[in-house]
Amino acid sequence: MEVVITDRPEHVMADIVTNAVAEGATTLGLATGSSPLATYTELIRRHREDGLSFHGVNAVLLDEYIGLEPTHPEAYARFIRDNFTDHVDIGEVHSPDGMNPDFRGAADAYDALIADLGPVDVQILGIGSNGHVGFNEPSSSLTSRTRIKTLTEKTRQDNARFFDSMDDVPMHVITQGLGTISDAKHLALVATGEGKAEAIAAAVEGPLSASCPASILQWHRHATVVVDEAAASRLR
Ligand code: F6R
Repeated sequence: MEVVITDRPEHVMADIVTNAVAEGATTLGLATGSSPLATYTELIRRHREDGLSFHGVNAVLLDEYIGLEPTHPEAYARFIRDNFTDHVDIGEVHSPDGMNPDFRGAADAYDALIADLGPVDVQILGIGSNGHVGFNEPSSSLTSRTRIKTLTEKTRQDNARFFDSMDDVPMHVITQGLGTISDAKHLALVATGEGKAEAIAAAVEGPLSASCPASILQWHRHATVVVDEAAASRLR
């Protein structure tokens, strides 16, 4: 695992994506949430000003809330369009189906789709303050596939800032599993700010353990953790 401490995490992340695309990447794995926003802004800038093209590239999202229509302002399918994919020339953008009452069928179909498109060339990841990646909360199986998960109270509190009230934050999500995520060729995790410092220390220097799902990066053959000084502050 490579750890990059930098005052411009979005540039390092955008370089990883730009290089992968130049080398012929066909599938990008996209995270939502606030952590990769600056990376997406930088990629849009490179598309507009530097000729970066995503022609021939498709995208898959990590996760989606259960019960939110894809057009809901907080649905991740909508978030990624608003903040990235509508602004570049990328191909299809897939997300797990959070509206299908056949949860198991929707999850299996998503894994099959990723297997069909994949392997994902670069998977962009954020990290929850409790160490989750995707919405694989602590104690998730390290080999899990796409499935329904219940959000912890901590994650619902962390995400309440995007909703009108805590009551509006969905309880359940459909998320790629840790095994699904690990199938990607390159995992690139970005974290900024003091609030992520403990989770980053556990992911990078703690034991490989389901209690910190992001620790799967330790056993991945190509993983990069890109952090600012604040997020790196608990590293030894
Ligand atoms: C989002 C996702 C989550 C977030 C994590 C951090 O698709 O998979 O794991 O990356 O919750 O969220 P932010 O970046 O908002 O702190």
